[in-house]
Amino acid sequence: MEEFATLSYGGREVRLPVIVGSEGERAIDITRLRERTGLITHDPGFANTGCCRSAITFVDGERGVLRYRGIPVEELAAHSTFKETAFLLVHGRLPSPRELTRFSVLLNDHSLVHEDMKIFYQNFPRSSHPMGILSSMVNALRSFYPELQNLEEEVNVTVTRLLSKVRTMAAMSYKISRGHTVVYPRPDLTYCANFLNMMFSTPVRPYEIDPEVVRALNVFLILHADHEQNCSTAAVRLVGSARVNLYAAISSGIAALWGPLHGGANQAVIEMLAAIRGEAGGVRKALARARDPADPFRLMGFGHRVYKTYDPRAKILKEVVHGLLDRLRLEDPLLDCARELEEAALQDPWFVERRLYPNVDFYSGILLRAIGIPTNMFTVLFAIGRLPGWIAQWKESLEDPEGRLWRPRQIYVGPTERRYVPIEAR
Ligand code: CMC
Repeated sequence: MEEFATLSYGGREVRLPVIVGSEGERAIDITRLRERTGLITHDPGFANTGCCRSAITFVDGERGVLRYRGIPVEELAAHSTFKETAFLLVHGRLPSPRELTRFSVLLNDHSLVHEDMKIFYQNFPRSSHPMGILSSMVNALRSFYPELQNLEEEVNVTVTRLLSKVRTMAAMSYKISRGHTVVYPRPDLTYCANFLNMMFSTPVRPYEIDPEVVRALNVFLILHADHEQNCSTAAVRLVGSARVNLYAAISSGIAALWGPLHGGANQAVIEMLAAIRGEAGGVRKALARARDPADPFRLMGFGHRVYKTYDPRAKILKEVVHGLLDRLRLEDPLLDCARELEEAALQDPWFVERRLYPNVDFYSGILLRAIGIPTNMFTVLFAIGRLPGWIAQWKESLEDPEGRLWRPRQIYVGPTERRYVPIEAR
């Protein structure tokens, strides 16, 4: 039976339809609110605003549940590969063996980057942040790969191109920033192994591919592959709503992800842990600073807009980090520091009251360090992981019959009408 919410305003009652999602989530449909009442809504940070109907990812922040296309992320992390998960997100179902092979062939076919693009990389100052470079280069792809005539072909080819090339471009940017020879993708390697080889192989020292490292990278990327309407995905949808090309929309997502409150937190966590470790009583001081309302300091890798319990991704990553360090016989003092900080924060009433738990970024940096990824590339790895999610969400928004140009309203609080004063009279 259809449900309604009743709004009582100005002596009138307005019935607003209630939309029910497949997991029982309820939303008041305010599409006709302004037309019927003259009112708009005010929701800074959109914490109570659903911007679309989506069949891609389900998050229950109270119970710590995350599913892609209905499949729990724990199952995907245990059994799937990033490539297969990317297919699942973009196409809505797990691929058949044939489809997966075809997808692999396409990814391989599109893995090279136009040679002229190398010059761009060479001309960025060496100190440039790789996220700035990646965002610019992805936007530049449209100039090198013009639009195809057939929309379906355009969507399919562009999607595969992006998934494959972003990985090559990320490794290329790392190599060029170090003054090293670019390593090209190899057709005999899997998605993640190829990336590691492009990052770490040199003409004089071939990279030894360790299946444990490849597996850990797969899990990292799977766990980052989508997270419904987060800041960067909302950016992709918003920019995409102006009907820009996919490269431009993804480039805006990369720019949003760079921020330390979002994907940039994985780099910030490592920097924070190193600072805490270098100081006597560092954990205690960090917690005190985080509690101080006059101090802008925040515990990076802690807290989440949606999760009010342990982030399921952080739980998996914590285990993977331990397993990987053990198997590689590595010790990372930052892991001990992270554990100590987590324990202290989870017992601190201030954090407990605010329901602040480790999020995906808390342990991911330690994993990436163990793999050998430099700190300033951490958020780039997040971007490679999030790419299938951004693409799936962009595709869904294109196909959405309710899809329109995103154009929020505002409540104007500036001066009311006043006269222009000529400069000589000011
Ligand atoms: N350290 C200290 N206090 C915090 C933190 C934190 N990390 N996160 C939230 N709080 C406090 C905040 O000060 C506020 O306290 P009070 O009610 O006394 O003013 C309360 O918790 C609510 O915070 P909020 O800013 O209203 O919460 P939000 O939902 O707007 O912010 C967040 C979510 C992720 C931006 C925030 O938790 C944060 O800044 N975390 C650190 C950065 C981080 O780890 N980001 C990665 C997020 S997960 C991956 C991703 O999205 O990329």
